[in-house]
Amino acid sequence: MESNDFIEKLIAEMTLEEKAAQMLQVPVSVVGMDEAREWARKGVGSFLNVIGDDMREIQRVVCEESRLKIPAVFGIDAVHGHCLNRRATIFPSQLAMAASFDRELVEKIGRVTATEVATEGIQWTFSPILCLARDPRWGRTNETFGEDKYLAGELGVAIIKGYQGEDLKDGSSVLACAKHFIGYGEATGARDSYDTEITFRKIRDEFLPPFRKAVDAGCATIMTAYGSIDGTPLTINDKALRGLLRDELGFDGFLITDWDTVNSLIRRQRVCDNHGDASRLAAAAGNDMIMCSTEFYDAIVQQVREGKLQESVLDEAVRHILTIKLRQGLWEKPLKTGIPGSIGCDAHHEVALKAARESVVLLSNNGVLPVRNDRKIRKIAVIGPNADDIRAQYGDWTYFTHPVPGRETEPERPYVTLLEGVKEQLQDTDIKVVYSYGCSVNRRFYYKGNYPDTGAFMEQVYADNDHDAEFYKEMPYVNEAAAVARESDLVILALGDNYTQAGEYTDRADLGLSGMQGALLRVLSTLHVPIVTVLISSKPLAIPDVVKKSDAVICAFNGGMYSGRAVAEAIFGKLNPRGRLPISFPVMTGQVPVYYNQLPGWHEGRYVDCPAEPLFAFGEGLSYTWYEYSGLKFDKETKTVSVDVKNTGDMDGVEVVQVYVNDVVSSVMTAVKNLAAFCTVDLKAGEQKTVELKLDDEAFSIIRPDETSVIEPGEFIIMAGHSSKDEDQIKISVEF
Ligand code: GLC
Repeated sequence: MESNDFIEKLIAEMTLEEKAAQMLQVPVSVVGMDEAREWARKGVGSFLNVIGDDMREIQRVVCEESRLKIPAVFGIDAVHGHCLNRRATIFPSQLAMAASFDRELVEKIGRVTATEVATEGIQWTFSPILCLARDPRWGRTNETFGEDKYLAGELGVAIIKGYQGEDLKDGSSVLACAKHFIGYGEATGARDSYDTEITFRKIRDEFLPPFRKAVDAGCATIMTAYGSIDGTPLTINDKALRGLLRDELGFDGFLITDWDTVNSLIRRQRVCDNHGDASRLAAAAGNDMIMCSTEFYDAIVQQVREGKLQESVLDEAVRHILTIKLRQGLWEKPLKTGIPGSIGCDAHHEVALKAARESVVLLSNNGVLPVRNDRKIRKIAVIGPNADDIRAQYGDWTYFTHPVPGRETEPERPYVTLLEGVKEQLQDTDIKVVYSYGCSVNRRFYYKGNYPDTGAFMEQVYADNDHDAEFYKEMPYVNEAAAVARESDLVILALGDNYTQAGEYTDRADLGLSGMQGALLRVLSTLHVPIVTVLISSKPLAIPDVVKKSDAVICAFNGGMYSGRAVAEAIFGKLNPRGRLPISFPVMTGQVPVYYNQLPGWHEGRYVDCPAEPLFAFGEGLSYTWYEYSGLKFDKETKTVSVDVKNTGDMDGVEVVQVYVNDVVSSVMTAVKNLAAFCTVDLKAGEQKTVELKLDDEAFSIIRPDETSVIEPGEFIIMAGHSSKDEDQIKISVEF
């Protein structure tokens, strides 16, 4: 990190208290404006969860009333658009946008998000998540780019470039924050913020690569994870924070803890019993900024005063923080400018529509899709709890789930739900569209349209878990849906989960369809009306029955404000689906972990009561055309793969070419295959192109038990194809 006279002079001038304040991030949504002003006068370094006039007022107090007038940096969770602002552009979740496998698109999403965040004046977003979701029981699966380290790293770099642009001083550039360091999604039992029994070798092999790419891309900040590694909380894990992140990766930005994790050391993880020890250990381990644990301020001053901690530790933390503030030009411009009028503008909405279209994954289709207007279809029934529920379509980290500043419950237009998208597609035809709610997703009702209780968001949570009571109370809606379906020529059924089942504190023990959705599907499937099921969910669900009973299945995840339009375009053939799964779907919950890059060695390779294969595999996704691979070659000198890809169907399309590598024999066990490169290629009907993809050393390296990385001589299998499945690939053997 560059040394800088301006920063060194400032540090020399700062009192111990001012250094402690600079290391603190205060949650305005918790302390309120009066206390926030007091912290601002103390010269606090950062605030979070505040926007608009309140944010500008706090910055005014910092810059006019604190002694050294060091501008504060304001952070917010703009993780799939600036979604905590009701008028902002709301993109597909990270998991949904990952289905695009499109680096350019994801960078554009980052740029638009940064512009809208910066237009509010905010200089920092706590994004991207680079954790891997290898067990979809984890509540925060939707926030990740899926299960694969290579895909997460590539898309993480893309969105960081979008956020930070070429110059952090740019009026529309904001600080990115790669999170949560490290291995957070790998906790035992996929339990949020729980202990992770992984080794540092495994960390280097599986979880570090995306963060290395983020650091190499100049990511300005990183966030420490809630959890612990083999009993040592990440917050005080200096082997991870100082050893890996600082010393090895050379990270030169600043490191912030997650929400109140210093107090979690006392309250939750119980490795300390007082604020002094907790604050000292967190600072000593390398955390530069402390999120929300305001007790840190007095405690750390006392620790230094009592000689338990060198003041130089605070100097180093403050130096990291001030260096980033200097790179952002905060002294010249204490608040970002962005582009006035850009929040929710048409150009930004175009990017959201493009993202929604590229995120649509066609999982199964017996030929019922695309639906053509061939007069056989006179009436279409749109049914299901997620058919017309924008909350389910938006998912987590939107102004419904984390409202800032006030609690908003009513959706803000524009957006297009699936029901509205279907109506759009059919508005110039004489095909009738009817709608029926069918049932709730998880015993929380959202009534709309033709029900006894219309318009209100009602929580009707049953006092007990009695299935009969639940069944009894929902049967009227199931029966009504059946009556509607019986009179129709096609059913479009929207199932999944909703935002009460996504995010922190929402890990699931059962990935099957919740509530009465399974019963609804069973009833509808007895009517011999074709069913197109659309999965609007925050994560993969164990839905073998849905696949069996549906004529087609489309996965939209949380596809953002225009997902309803994109899915409807796919159903009616205006859009040739191009999405590919960034995460595997289990056949049943007990099958997880079911990620594609498994190690070899499992006796039988399956449970006796479950198939070996996942329900759907990583990289899988159909389209209305087909792609053929041939001529796979590998140039050892340049480590470049070339392969011919042909569109053999009668519809233009976009193929996601995927390249995987297997190290046939290695001194430590390695995955049966790992994604090593991908790209998208436009192919007209009948067109063939030769695609070239460069592999980096990491594709052939292993991490030995002594944690060193090496490429061992021997045979490697290189595979290229349409998904991670063997049957979708062609392969060659190469010798190193
Ligand atoms: C939350 C999340 C983290 C988020 C932070 C600030 O608890 O773990 O991802 O950025 O707190 O909201």
